[in-house]
Amino acid sequence: MVFEVLLCVWVPGLTLKRVELDVIDRLFYPVVPVVVTAEYNERVGGMFAAWWSQLSFKPLLVGVAIAPERYTYKLVKSSGIFALNFLDFSRVNSAPFIGDVSARFLPDKLERAGFKIKRGEVLGAPIIEDAAAAVEARLVKVVELGDHDWFVGEVVAAYAIEDFDGVWRLDKYRPLFYLGRTRRPQTVRRIYATALGWKKVELDFAPGELSRYDKLRKEVLNKVLEIVDEASDREEAVRRIIEVLKEYSLEADDAVLYYDEALRRLGKKRAD
Ligand SMILES: Cc1cc2nc3c(=O)[nH]c(=O)nc-3n(C[C@H](O)[C@H](O)[C@H](O)COP(=O)(O)O)c2cc1C
Repeated sequence: MVFEVLLCVWVPGLTLKRVELDVIDRLFYPVVPVVVTAEYNERVGGMFAAWWSQLSFKPLLVGVAIAPERYTYKLVKSSGIFALNFLDFSRVNSAPFIGDVSARFLPDKLERAGFKIKRGEVLGAPIIEDAAAAVEARLVKVVELGDHDWFVGEVVAAYAIEDFDGVWRLDKYRPLFYLGRTRRPQTVRRIYATALGWKKVELDFAPGELSRYDKLRKEVLNKVLEIVDEASDREEAVRRIIEVLKEYSLEADDAVLYYDEALRRLGKKRAD
């Protein structure tokens, strides 16, 4: 099985070449960009964002990088509510409206892009009516980083077309991918892509001999959880975790990391 996996990814004769750092974003693509939508003072707006991610399961957090210049930045920051919408490739021609021009200068850009807005069921966030999927989120934090701020939102509701039944079947939904833009002095062009057919592979989780290592991981974690649940203080917990780590020939200085992981899983507050 492992052999098969290796065969799948092995591409003979390829060597890595050095990539200029000013095109690094394009190295990270393709990504599925989301349309971030929000409303403030009866103004609904939205923009494409390629830089986004799920951040945590518990609580269910997503993050999206938004530059202060974006009109959507103001809408999200002022209202504290936003939605992330996923578009089918069939909507690719609307991309210039949501990703190239600002609602500050073209206030009805969403309508001009052919989008109708409806309300999320929980927060009433503006959602694109014929999106393939959307999530509603409550803003919990804005982290200032560099030229973009990282908006962290707690997801309170999610919606999807029928092609999603716990996983994307990809029978109907053709995700819209972004590959980046060319730079001046050439004519600036944005490159989008989709797949016309998919090669899908389903691999067993930790197959064959790998299951042994996954079993070990769970054993250690369960012992740690038990210890942290029972221990009267951090010192005792860490001491007992070190004993477990020794038993499994693991590095003793991982004890504090395991302690931290257990606290989060058990939903306990740190005592120190
Ligand atoms: C595919 C694509 C991805 C983008 N990703 C981001 C992003 O992650 N963060 C960001 O601030 N701007 C991003 N942009 C730029 C904004 O979408 C663009 O500036 C938009 O016009 C802002 O609209 P607004 O001013 O109405 O909010 C992206 C643009 C495109 C086309």
